[in-house]
Amino acid sequence: MSKPLVVIVMGSSSDWEIMQQAARQLQDFGVAYDARVISAHRSPDLLFDYIKEMTTQGVQCFIAGAGGAAHLAGVIAGKTTLPVLGVPIPSKYLKGMDSLLSIVQMPKGIPVATFAIGEAGAANAGLFAVAMLANNDQTLAQKLSDYRSKQAQAIAATTLPPLS
Ligand code: RP5
Repeated sequence: MSKPLVVIVMGSSSDWEIMQQAARQLQDFGVAYDARVISAHRSPDLLFDYIKEMTTQGVQCFIAGAGGAAHLAGVIAGKTTLPVLGVPIPSKYLKGMDSLLSIVQMPKGIPVATFAIGEAGAANAGLFAVAMLANNDQTLAQKLSDYRSKQAQAIAATTLPPLS
């Protein structure tokens, strides 16, 4: 197994249904990743140990998914200068607005790049990680360009049904 270039952390196994969309993108682009459930409030010591371990192993960025009072991404960003990509997980009562605001409203000085609530956000976080890695990897840059071209072709080939 190659060493992970991207780490995906989520606060609960219940987040995996969403966060696997990030993992899927990384897998499709052939980017090595590690995915873990580690909670910022249920297992803070484990989180700190894991961040330290991963940052010494050549990881390039962290993708963090959490719901509710979603401080996971912010806490990770407080412990590493590597880019942190936050994914707000939909929550039961506030539909992920709590998660979104918790992640996006980082105070000045410790940034977290925040993505859309749910599957689209998780997938885009994966694609964004690919785009960052592609800055220094021509093969990956070409794959990303091909991926974009396919989307453009699909739109160009789309026709509307006749009036009903
Ligand atoms: C957060 O609490 C997790 O990120 C998850 O989105 C939310 C609910 O967790 P569970 O009660 O499903 O474990 O920490």
